[in-house]
Amino acid sequence: MGKHRASHGSGTPEYNGAGVSRASGRNVSRGEHTPVLLERCLELLSPALQGQHPVHVDATLGLGGHAEAVLAAHPSVTVVALDRDPHAIERSTQRLAPYADRIMLAHAAYDDLPDVLDRLALSTVDSILFDLGVSSMQLDDAARGFAYAQDAPLDMRMDPTRGVTAEEVVNSYPAAQLARVLRVYGEEKFATRIAAAIVRERTRAPITSSARLAELVRESIPAPARRTGGHPAKRSFQALRIEVNGELASLEAAMPAALDVLAVGGRVVVLAYHSLEDRMVKRALAERARSTAPVDLPVELPGTGPSLRLLTRGAERASEAEVAANPRAASVRLRAAERIDPDASASGPTKALHQPLARGHRGSKGDRNTAYPADRDINDEGE
Ligand SMILES: C[S@@+](CC[C@H](N)C(=O)[O-])C[C@H]1O[C@@H](n2cnc3c(N)ncnc32)[C@H](O)[C@@H]1O
Repeated sequence: MGKHRASHGSGTPEYNGAGVSRASGRNVSRGEHTPVLLERCLELLSPALQGQHPVHVDATLGLGGHAEAVLAAHPSVTVVALDRDPHAIERSTQRLAPYADRIMLAHAAYDDLPDVLDRLALSTVDSILFDLGVSSMQLDDAARGFAYAQDAPLDMRMDPTRGVTAEEVVNSYPAAQLARVLRVYGEEKFATRIAAAIVRERTRAPITSSARLAELVRESIPAPARRTGGHPAKRSFQALRIEVNGELASLEAAMPAALDVLAVGGRVVVLAYHSLEDRMVKRALAERARSTAPVDLPVELPGTGPSLRLLTRGAERASEAEVAANPRAASVRLRAAERIDPDASASGPTKALHQPLARGHRGSKGDRNTAYPADRDINDEGE
């Protein structure tokens, strides 16, 4: 990693040919963002960051709140930070300037983590944090079209340099496909009606603004149903954002790739805000936390032991106090695991037992796939 030189003064990130840069600049912007479950994340990551030169990956840098706290708490840690949003990289570059010699920034999607690490000549890392979804900076920038309460062109791309916009989705998807997106990603009961209204409207004129779309959605939902559950367009906007950014496909590819690069003893922590994301995380962790040996064998065979130990019982939630102080924590579900040697229990008398370490946190209801508010209310949350 030494080939990437720190530089101070410009206030903007400096990308090298590999798409990886060091933080630079002196204008540190702070105090405008409250990272979710910060103390719990630090507590879970800490045991993995005690070596001489530990490497931590922040897969979703955002405004750099979690990354800054890891850097401050662990003076020997180097952080590799990814975000698909170049604005997030730029903002965090300024915030993290005091740690410029210990952070590598990459404008990349988290499913590109193996490539990013390859470019840095790293084969394993000691910890990885995913804080999924959209950032408050993205929601607050009205021009990006994420928010239904502000009129803007219908974009919604986290990476504005590539991919299709919400405008293209809304104006080109067949009605059935649109309805599916709204129903599955937004848990929208009136998905079919909304999709039909969108298709009717776009035959008259393309739908290009967030205000027009929000109004169409509102008009499609029966009046009694509009009185509960927040703004009527909330679920549809969330669904379009997930579709535009391919959020679930990206996570599905990223989880196994991330677990593959964790060193033995390394830890992964994931904060999910959507039930489908959390389910995906749960499955990815559970799959590796169980033995693949035949159930009737009393001992593990070499290579069949679990390669993960779960650190959380079910999913943990934010405390009521945190939610009161930071509404964006309301829908969070935290899961964490530690990489273990699958052969460690190969000659032992019993198969490895997983001992959850959760202490003093509100758990979700066991391991059941419970329904909960699908996402943050994107217009209500503060930083
Ligand atoms: C909730 S914010 C992270 C906030 C951050 N933990 C902090 O303390 O400021 C999520 C970030 O993940 C980024 N993101 C979402 N999907 C991504 C993906 N597939 N690859 C990389 N970054 C992604 C978003 O652009 C956003 O900046």
